[in-house]
Amino acid sequence: MDFKQEIERRRTFAIISHPDAGKTTLTEKLLLFGGAIHVAGAVKSNKIKKTATSDFMEIEKQRGISVATSVMGFEYDGYKVNILDTPGHQDFAEDTFRTLTAVDSVIIVIDAAKGVETQTRKLMQVCRMRNTPVIVFVNKMDRPANDPFDLLDEIESELSIGVRPLSWPIGSGDLFKGVYNLFESSLYLYEPSKQTVQEGVNVGLESEELDKRIGDSAAETLREEVETINGVYTEFDVEEYLKGKVAPVFFGSALNNFGVRELLHCFLKIAPKPQPSHAEERDVQPDENKFTGFVFKIHANMDPNHRNRIAFVKVCSGKFERGKGYKHVRLDKELKFSSPTAFMADKKSIIDEAYPGDIVGLPDTGNFKIGDSVSEGEKIHFRGLPSFSPELFRYIDNADPMKAKQLAKGIDQLMDEGVAQLFVHQFNGRKIIGTVGALQFEVIEYRLLHEYGAKCRYEGLSLYKACWIESDDEKELQEFKKRKVQYLAKDKDGRDVFLAESGFMLQMAQQDFKNIRFHFSSEF
Ligand code: G4P
Repeated sequence: MDFKQEIERRRTFAIISHPDAGKTTLTEKLLLFGGAIHVAGAVKSNKIKKTATSDFMEIEKQRGISVATSVMGFEYDGYKVNILDTPGHQDFAEDTFRTLTAVDSVIIVIDAAKGVETQTRKLMQVCRMRNTPVIVFVNKMDRPANDPFDLLDEIESELSIGVRPLSWPIGSGDLFKGVYNLFESSLYLYEPSKQTVQEGVNVGLESEELDKRIGDSAAETLREEVETINGVYTEFDVEEYLKGKVAPVFFGSALNNFGVRELLHCFLKIAPKPQPSHAEERDVQPDENKFTGFVFKIHANMDPNHRNRIAFVKVCSGKFERGKGYKHVRLDKELKFSSPTAFMADKKSIIDEAYPGDIVGLPDTGNFKIGDSVSEGEKIHFRGLPSFSPELFRYIDNADPMKAKQLAKGIDQLMDEGVAQLFVHQFNGRKIIGTVGALQFEVIEYRLLHEYGAKCRYEGLSLYKACWIESDDEKELQEFKKRKVQYLAKDKDGRDVFLAESGFMLQMAQQDFKNIRFHFSSEF
C-alpha cells in the first residue's frame, strides 16, 4: 500500500459523552467488531467514579488504565480506525479538550432518557470551535426513552447543530422493537443480546411485510413518523456533515450491540480522513513527505521509581519511522526514538512506522511538554492546544524544607503534563496552582509525594478567574499594571495574567481599560 492510501484509510476520532451515557460500552462494541477484543467487558472504564471523596488508589488505578485505553486502534474492512479515549470525569475536562485537537471527527453518545447533559454541551463547544464533524448515537433505547422528535429538537438547540436522523426507533423500553434504517430502507429487529449482531432485512416502508414483522399499529406509527421526518428534515448532505453543520443521528443500544454496526458502517463511509493541521507558520497537509507531529497528551509512568513518561504524538504529516532522528522544535534538539509504541485495543506494542492520523507513544524522560512540535527539521509550531482560564486556585508552598528542589521539579513536570497551570504572583512571588476541577489538587499532592518525595501545603485563594491580558496601547497597559499590581501574575511562559477576584472586578477592569484585551484561553 502506498503512502497516500495509508492516509486515506485512516479514521481518527473520539467518542464523547456525559458520564454514564455509554461511551465505554460503545467503544467496547466497536472494538468487538474490529476483532481487537473478543469478549465484552475487556475494556475498563477510564473514569473516576468517586466524586466527592476521592480515593487515591482509585485515581492511580485509573491513571494506569487510561494509559492502556488512551488510544485504541483496530483494522476493519480495510480501514485503520483510531479511537482516542477521553476521561469521563469532569475535573479532567482539559485533557478531553486537548484530545479533541488530535481527532478528525467525533461520535457523541446521548442517553435517550436523559437527553443532552452538561458535559456533552461543554465538549460540543470545543467541537464547534474547530468545526469538527459530529455523528450522534442516541443510546439505551432498550430503556424507556424520551420522544425521539423531542430528542432531536433538544440536540439541535442545545448543541447548536443541525440534525438528520439516519435511523429511526420503533418504540422504546419494553416496547422497543428495533430501528428502521432510513439510509438503506432496512429493518433491524431488536433482540436483547450482548454479543451477537442482528442482520437487517430489506423491508420497504409500504410493504405488508413491515406490518407482519412489527405489528399493524407500530408499522402505521413508523410510516407516519418517517413521513414527518422527510417533511421536516432536508436530505442528508455529507458535505454539510464534513463542515460540522449537520450531525447524522442513529438510535440503538450499545449494551445490546444494537444499532452499533450501522453506526460503524456509516461512520467509515462518511467520516473524514486525516485533515490538514494548523501551525502558526502555515497549514500542514497530511500527504507532505516530511514528518511533523505534536504532543497532545503526556502520561506519567505508574512506577514511581522510574519517572518515565509517555508523550502521545499525533502524526500530522509524513511517515514517522523508528530510530530516525527528529527535531524537538522547542528545545532545538535532535531526538531518536528507539521504542515508539502504538496502541491496538488494550495492548501496547513497539512499531516501526506510523502515518498521518496515527498516534505514537514516545517514551520520555522529561523533554516534552504539552503542545510541543516534532519535525524533520522545520521550525513549526502547531496551534490549537490552548490552556483555559482555570476556575479554582490555591497557593502551593513547600512543607518540607529539605525537599525544596524536589518540589520545584515535581511541580514543573506535572505542569508540563498539563495536570494544572502554574502562575507566579507578581506582588508576593508565591506560586499559585490553577485547575478546572478540585480533584487535581489531590492528584498533585499525592503525586508530588509519591513520585518526587516532596511535600506541599496548599492555602486557599479565592479568585473568580485568571485571564491573559494584552494590549497594543503600551501606556494603558503600564497604567493597568500599576493600578492592579496586587492582582498580577505571570504564567509558565512569562505572559501577563490578571487575577480577578470577582466577576464585578473583571467587569470594572474591562470598562476602565478599554484598550486591554482579556482572554480566557491562552491561545489568542
Ligand atoms: P460511560 O463510559 O459513558 O460513563 O458509560 P458506560 O459505558 O460505562 O455505561 C454506563 C452504564 O450504562 C453502565 O451500567 C452500562 O452497562 C449502561 N449501558 C450502556 N449502554 C446501555 C444500553 O444500551 N442500555 C442499557 N440499558 N444500559 C446501558 P453500570 O451499571 O453503571 O455499569 P456496569 O456494571 O454495567 O458496567
